[in-house]
Amino acid sequence: MNPRPLVAGNWKMNGLKAAFAELSAIRDAVSQFPKENVDFAICPPATLVSAAADMTRGTRLKIGGQDCHTKISGAHTGDISAAMLADAGAAYVILGHSERRADHHESDALVRAKAEAAIRAGLVAVVCVGETKDQRVAGDTLKVVEAQVDGSLPPGATADNLVIAYEPVWAIGTGLTPTAADVAEVHAFIRAQLKRLVPDAADGVRILYGGSVKPANAAELMAVANVNGALIGGASLKCDDFIRIAAAYK
Ligand code: 13P
Repeated sequence: MNPRPLVAGNWKMNGLKAAFAELSAIRDAVSQFPKENVDFAICPPATLVSAAADMTRGTRLKIGGQDCHTKISGAHTGDISAAMLADAGAAYVILGHSERRADHHESDALVRAKAEAAIRAGLVAVVCVGETKDQRVAGDTLKVVEAQVDGSLPPGATADNLVIAYEPVWAIGTGLTPTAADVAEVHAFIRAQLKRLVPDAADGVRILYGGSVKPANAAELMAVANVNGALIGGASLKCDDFIRIAAAYK
């Protein structure tokens, strides 16, 4: 059986309180979504997580963070722990996004430690992997993705607490996307790798595609084998686009 699709939005560093209007529109639209077995999440900036979770409690729209610390609490000024996200009402946390790997020099080992902390706190860890343009041109995509999955996968990963997002760095925010065949190759490769690393969980772990997912390309990308949903950046900021992407699952 295919894993239950997850349509998730990553708002990145976008969203003031005024964005709650859009969030409530997404919550309401998602509640009317015709297909039962699709999961939805929005990951707003940390400042909005608690209020967003309050606004969506008991609905089909779950809330996630965009990062967490490896520790539960302590002297780490400016950081947020997985326990804090869970306490604020989050269900998911994005980890190892390429923007954090680049801006904050996050290594695979750090991402793994964060994912472990997330799982301990009861969150679903959405671990991001993906190659840069140079790495793709050099023919290193599978090698890069393999090393990232290998290095970032937390111990104790199950289909319920781990999601992988394949996000080619060059496709993020550029309007460029890999071909369906390229996406199929990487997702099948990750699935095979999961079968080696976590044999019992492998078939159930959602592998999302992310990078310039739009209403116009969602149906094609979501139909690819082993693509179990989308991690959407820019297009998740607007209810209309988010729901039109989710419509790939009608
Ligand atoms: P875009 O959809 O804006 O390309 O961003 C993708 C992404 O980085 C989601 O995490």
